[in-house]
Amino acid sequence: MENFKILYLASEVAPFAKAGGLADVTSALPKALKGLNQEIRLMMPKYKFINDRKYILREVIRLREIKVTIGGVTKIANVKSAFLPESKVQIYFIEIEDLFNRLGIYNDPKTKEPYPDNAIRFAYFSKAALETLKILSWQPNIIHCNDWQSAFVPVYLKTVYMNDPFFKGVKSVFTIHNLTSTGSFPKETAKEIDFDESQTKEGGMFNKDGELNLTKGAIYFSDFLTTVSENYANEIIANDETGFGFGTILDEKGEKFEGILNGVDYGIWSPEKDKLLPHQYSTEDMNGKLENKKTLLNRLGLKFDEKTPLLSMIANIEYQKGFDLVLEAMEELLKEQLQICILGDGDREITKELYKFTKSHPGQFSMNITFDDKMSHLVEAGSDLFLMPSRYEPCGLHQIYSLRYGTIPIVSKIGGLYDTVDEIDLESGEGTGFLIEELNAKSLVKTVKKSIELFKDTEKWDKIRQHIMLEDFSWEYSAKRYLDIYNRVINE
Ligand code: GLC
Repeated sequence: MENFKILYLASEVAPFAKAGGLADVTSALPKALKGLNQEIRLMMPKYKFINDRKYILREVIRLREIKVTIGGVTKIANVKSAFLPESKVQIYFIEIEDLFNRLGIYNDPKTKEPYPDNAIRFAYFSKAALETLKILSWQPNIIHCNDWQSAFVPVYLKTVYMNDPFFKGVKSVFTIHNLTSTGSFPKETAKEIDFDESQTKEGGMFNKDGELNLTKGAIYFSDFLTTVSENYANEIIANDETGFGFGTILDEKGEKFEGILNGVDYGIWSPEKDKLLPHQYSTEDMNGKLENKKTLLNRLGLKFDEKTPLLSMIANIEYQKGFDLVLEAMEELLKEQLQICILGDGDREITKELYKFTKSHPGQFSMNITFDDKMSHLVEAGSDLFLMPSRYEPCGLHQIYSLRYGTIPIVSKIGGLYDTVDEIDLESGEGTGFLIEELNAKSLVKTVKKSIELFKDTEKWDKIRQHIMLEDFSWEYSAKRYLDIYNRVINE
């Protein structure tokens, strides 16, 4: 296998900064690529809450006070270096005081609204990353970018840096993690961030209505494009609603667009060695799972009852994740012998409405309106069922974590969910989860009821749990597919 130099860029990387599944992927895939003997380095912004001491960030003298100029405005970047925990993967943190020394990643925690200067923030991040490479004299073969926050890089490489000898032959790969957020900004923003309209013209980075769209720019300018499951790759070309109108331009990429399923870092997500759990367990000894359930219910203020399954959700509370359907279904769901727990934050209105059910059904429903990594492991381990009725789901990770934790997933029949969960056959006991036939509250309730019926058949339930825990979605296979793409792009 060849050895490449790969720079991997992301706006969030676990455990340093996490707003969603993206952060799990951006920490796991680089480790898997390192495991395949690749020379990979990461770069991400240094947010205020990333603790230098906790993660042993070191100053790099050469990388102090790097000047980064965009739209005639120069800002100073200081770059620190560390390693991804329990790995030899080097990660650089780009510190630009007035842009990243803030408490939120994308949104102001006070207002929950996106920071108004997000386009500028991530433009500087991207350009600082490229400038850092020059100072390091480290010339990667590939720069792998993720979502709109690093979409600037494929664009800059083919515009601003087009004639820079340092970047000659450097190729870009761009991964779409989610088309619900693509970095749309008013047309005027383009000038502020050095995107010269005359260079990019039509089909470039502007939507039909003239709005600047960074993902569109990256689709257009990157040397290769991927997304995080095969089914989602097909959906966003075929279905205009799911594809948010990107279908045609994606289709035009032809063989330069592929879906590669995300994997799981089983070093972090395995019940037999999960340090965040009060009780570890495995297929050989499932007692710990029951103990975790008791601990979890206790924390949630719910009572343990052998005959009552616990159904959980961990997600950003928003339309994309199907929370509007959950809200509509709540009344019916709570008529069942069932306890429900939700962990997550997001849309104010939906959250407020859902929260009302904690008052009307205190012994049955609990909601934790925060995201807490440790708690999310306990919820995976302590639950019987895991619900993901997403409207769009490029890959989804919690349904895959659920499998490993013996928590039966109930998912909608879309995106990566469809690629990772097989319908349980109640007769034979084959399959790994339940699929919600149609995206509506009625279908959701029907599917949950089916799962409750199965819970009553203890013997069958235990058997299914045993085999879903053996499903394997480790990164190795997918990491090899990325390598294959790098190889093709470099040698084209
Ligand atoms: C986004 C997607 C999710 C995917 C994750 C990692 O959060 O919504 O489906 O699993 O990115 O790729």
